[in-house]
Amino acid sequence: MKTKHEVLRRRALAPGIVDIVVRAPLVARKAEPGQFVMVMADERGERIPLTLVDWSREEGWIEMVFLEVGVSTKKLSALREGQEVYHVAGPLGNPSKIERYGRVAVVGGGVANAALYPIARALRGLGNEVIAVVGARSSSLLVFEEKLSEFCDEVHVATDDGSRGFKGFVSQLLDELMGEGLELDAVWIVGPALMMRACAQVAAKRGVPVAYASLNPIMVCGMGMCGACRVKVGGRVRFTCVEGPEFDAYAVDWEDLIRRLGAFRDQEGLSLRLYSEAKRA
Ligand SMILES: Cc1cc2nc3c(=O)[nH]c(=O)nc-3n(C[C@H](O)[C@H](O)[C@H](O)COP(=O)(O)OP(=O)(O)OC[C@H]3O[C@@H](n4cnc5c(N)ncnc54)[C@H](O)[C@@H]3O)c2cc1C
Ligand code: FES
Repeated sequence: MKTKHEVLRRRALAPGIVDIVVRAPLVARKAEPGQFVMVMADERGERIPLTLVDWSREEGWIEMVFLEVGVSTKKLSALREGQEVYHVAGPLGNPSKIERYGRVAVVGGGVANAALYPIARALRGLGNEVIAVVGARSSSLLVFEEKLSEFCDEVHVATDDGSRGFKGFVSQLLDELMGEGLELDAVWIVGPALMMRACAQVAAKRGVPVAYASLNPIMVCGMGMCGACRVKVGGRVRFTCVEGPEFDAYAVDWEDLIRRLGAFRDQEGLSLRLYSEAKRA
């Protein structure tokens, strides 16, 4: 039976950042923090991974927040309330390892700040003290600051241009906070690979015992068959879709991930140009 994945709500949170709520009762029933779905905007589209930001088991919906970067995310962004997302598969990946750590920082960059929301909620639910350290290029691109404050004891903000909070990268803010005496038992890092690598380096330098990073390699199948999402962690090849997406941030081969993320840049650029031209015609 094909479930109708109706768009129940669609709103722009910031330029290029879209929040959608989609009917998906089977996904909502099993969703856990840290998991993702593979979404196909239309029947000719490709499947892309998006993190589950929120869900309701009772009402049967899921929420995703995404950045428009290429054809698939632009097609998804073009859907309006009442229209249908062609396909949603999930929940995929392993849930976050939510335990009672003590004081935990959830650290995010850009659109990924939304992905911290279910993790912060679950960590707080187990009695952890949760500190959010979130960044964006500019204040106009800062999302989910208020939502995170629902479950975080403190929310610290960094912007690259200094238009809000600390002026600089979120990794620098994390370093500064820890230099001023913030002690952490664990850290969760979600965002662009360069940002995650920098934050993992800060956490290692400051001796945080546990660090998780949610990896974002290119995915094709989302279920362990194609190998597109392979990453190196602790010297071993791991498939992010079925063994991740969260891994020990200290064991990730960040250079390998960053290099592989750029593997299809030319094709992605061409695809976006053709899509934009077709829309204009
Ligand atoms: C487990 C997982 C969860 C994700 N969750 C989210 C989310 O909640 N919100 C969100 O906005 N994005 C998320 N992403 C990234 C998202 O899947 C990509 O942005 C999307 O696939 C791009 O598709 P596109 O066709 O629009 O762009 P493409 O034409 O495929 O790519 C355009 C640009 O985006 C870059 N890109 C492509 N795929 C990725 C990727 N996986 N990670 C980082 N950069 C990429 C390319 O290098 C290129 O520069 C997630 C990725 C993974 C692996
Ligand atoms: S995306 Fe195909 S194996 Fe992970």
